[in-house]
Amino acid sequence: MRRPSLASKCFLLGTFVIFPLISVNIVKRLDIPAKLRQNCCMMLEAVPAKNILVLHGPNLNLLGSRESEVYGSDTLDEISESLCKLAKDAGANLVNFQSNSEAELVSRIQQAIGDKTDFIIINPAAYTHTSVAMRDALAAARLPFIEVHLSNIFARESFRRKSYFSDLALGVISGLGAKGYHLALEYALNAR
Ligand code: DQA
Repeated sequence: MRRPSLASKCFLLGTFVIFPLISVNIVKRLDIPAKLRQNCCMMLEAVPAKNILVLHGPNLNLLGSRESEVYGSDTLDEISESLCKLAKDAGANLVNFQSNSEAELVSRIQQAIGDKTDFIIINPAAYTHTSVAMRDALAAARLPFIEVHLSNIFARESFRRKSYFSDLALGVISGLGAKGYHLALEYALNAR
């Protein structure tokens, strides 16, 4: 029988020894990203849920019956419940707080400084046009916030065009009714 040539020896060595060795190594390496991916998932699961505070100013407790041609027919409870549901579905915590008192609203903003609140959505209602105290509290809190108004404050009496909050706000939504709160929440849920 003829002895195999050098070329066929090289071919056999490559096919049956070197190639399988390289393949096993590649498979082993592919294992590493799989493990890494698992760790990333664990890291993602460990990210704490977002905490969102929704503040409602004076007279918004009357929504539903108050000038419904201006503010719509949704009650504050209906708006609050829909926001809670949207937040819950997205894995976030959401707290609604309404007060007719400027002092209580200032205190609630101050409380947000230390209670892990990540984002504020605020309709300051009539205090929009008067409250330096609430503005200062938000400035001190240094938390991102969106100012929401059910009505379009720029299309109404001239005194409503002045807001003490808009220049500090991340954004302002005015005139879209209850939908404005939902849009603000959608932004807050996706904000970094
Ligand atoms: C309001 C507009 C304010 O001018 C008014 O005082 C309110 C509600 C709004 O949501 O359209 O109370 O903030």
